[in-house]
Amino acid sequence: MDPDLTRHFAQRAATYDLAPWVRDPRILATTIAFIDPRPGQRIIDLGAGTGAVLEAVLAACPDVGLCVAVDISPDMLARVRDSRIRACRGDAQELPGADSAFDVAVCRQTLHYVDDLHRCLREVRRVLRPDGALVVGQMTPFGAEDETYWEAIVRLRQPLRRHDLTPAELTHLVRSSGFRVIRTTQVRARESLNSWLARYEDTDRQLAELRRLHLEAPEAYRRIHNFEQRGDDILLDNCWTFLRAIVDPGPEASGTR
Ligand SMILES: C[S@@+](CC[C@H](N)C(=O)[O-])C[C@H]1O[C@@H](n2cnc3c(N)ncnc32)[C@H](O)[C@@H]1O
Repeated sequence: MDPDLTRHFAQRAATYDLAPWVRDPRILATTIAFIDPRPGQRIIDLGAGTGAVLEAVLAACPDVGLCVAVDISPDMLARVRDSRIRACRGDAQELPGADSAFDVAVCRQTLHYVDDLHRCLREVRRVLRPDGALVVGQMTPFGAEDETYWEAIVRLRQPLRRHDLTPAELTHLVRSSGFRVIRTTQVRARESLNSWLARYEDTDRQLAELRRLHLEAPEAYRRIHNFEQRGDDILLDNCWTFLRAIVDPGPEASGTR
């Protein structure tokens, strides 16, 4: 488990839930619609953090059979509030649980931190029952037009990122890991630049550069992200990509071997 990531989330744990997207009702509603929790189902959350997704699962379907929250950060897991959620310190690349132990695996805004994504998805396949489902919710660029500039911004913001998945790359990753993608959607989430900049303990230089990148963003980027100047703040849309996939009964693709 990466000590830098563990340290980062130890520092963020206390205020993590203040990020507006974590408990944003629209983002959670889409996550739940994609999970589609049913009574008795066993659900595992990879990089579950403070447990926001599994709490929403339990609110939507109190009769769900088992909720397991896996995370490398004991500080994030310590904030899981619902005692029905089983918190388990572990790595998404080496999941707890026997083969076929779960009906649904969910992973929201964590894949960009996972070193070996094929290894992670191979583990997801292993712990899912043969017709189990994988649900991913991930902040991405909207597409090819904003991809490069978006990457520059998020890389500067979070140097611990391993990947900057576009919607197309996410779909390709999941398909090439032995899943059949059956549903995708994109959701816009409005964010204030100032509140986003205030959430991390970035250096003054980083903050100034992040602000500059927004103030000098190309016209296409401003249009796609729906920029609106409000005094010294900018309101803008972030893109969430959601995907539901089922284990493909066919032979595993080459990326998983
Ligand atoms: C941005 S937070 C998302 C938390 C939660 N999924 C949510 O939507 O609120 C990312 C989480 O992934 C965890 N994480 C990062 N790499 C991980 C890995 N390889 N295995 C398990 N958890 C990991 C971090 O500790 C952190 O809690």
